[in-house]
Amino acid sequence: MLFPDYRPRRLRQNENFRRMIRETQLSVDNLILPLFSVEGKGVKSPIPSMPGHYQLSVENIVKEGKVARDLGIPAVMIFGIPKKKDSLAMSAYAKNGIVQKTVKALKNKVKDLIVITDVCLCEYTDHGHCGVVQDGIIENDATLDLLARAAVSHAQAGADMVAPSDMMDGRVAAVREALDENGFEITPIMSYAAKYCSAFYYPFRQAAESAPKFGDRRTYQMDPANSLEAIREVTMDMEEGADIIMVKPALAYLDVIFRIRQEIDLPIAAYNVSGEFAMIKAADKLGWLDGNQVMMESLTAIKRAGADMILTYFAKEAASKLASRA
Ligand code: PBG
Repeated sequence: MLFPDYRPRRLRQNENFRRMIRETQLSVDNLILPLFSVEGKGVKSPIPSMPGHYQLSVENIVKEGKVARDLGIPAVMIFGIPKKKDSLAMSAYAKNGIVQKTVKALKNKVKDLIVITDVCLCEYTDHGHCGVVQDGIIENDATLDLLARAAVSHAQAGADMVAPSDMMDGRVAAVREALDENGFEITPIMSYAAKYCSAFYYPFRQAAESAPKFGDRRTYQMDPANSLEAIREVTMDMEEGADIIMVKPALAYLDVIFRIRQEIDLPIAAYNVSGEFAMIKAADKLGWLDGNQVMMESLTAIKRAGADMILTYFAKEAASKLASRA
């Protein structure tokens, strides 16, 4: 394959040639839209660092769910911001908690939309950590039961899939067992398996009001320097019963996505997180780059690295763009 016998430019000379040899096809089928649900009526509070995203009360989430569905987006991921926080995250597994109410409304009012719920305690604890705290330590095993209760309560409300994001050891097994015991053996688990302790979550923590009040999440989320450890985390979750495994964040961790794609044969999701979204939006606003082009390039790169599904705040914009191309 040496010049002049081989000329890579022959197959780049027009868009039809380029289409024919394109290796990665980003599709609306790959997109999952995250939504933030709050108590109240008629609430639509803009999230400053995430243009186009809002804290929405239930009836507005339903509207947004319909918009997503009409754009062909197959699934949404629900995060809840409760009225009350306490040390045991009681609103996380309350029958009438914010996520439970939201899921019920979506399942009743929006046809043909998969509703996934984030299962974690950080939005519901008064200290903002993802687990139960005792003497300043985030307790692993004491947290498992609460996560399992939250997952079951989401399934009871009608969630199509649950997504534990807390990074406690053993939580996939705990959630799987609790779901099965309660008759939800058909409810899949999307596990945030390789979730890094990342500064890219900053806008999300404003949006979900879930920043830790003391310390940080380094004792449970992964060290950004590690990728062998990601394989161990993923293997563990797979053995515990995860149906889909997630890598998060996405763009700074494309090597991790690629590596895991080589190691396992489960579907892989990647979370294009809030900070990744905010950076592109901010640069676009300043006129420093073309946000639309960078969005499509980023999402294509995440897919090229090996992700089957992409959770992204760009889901609606990308879906419109993909539709206008077709
Ligand atoms: C909850 C959770 C977080 C995100 C998703 N689920 C925040 C965190 O771990 O602090 C981040 C998503 C994003 O930044 O878009 N544990």
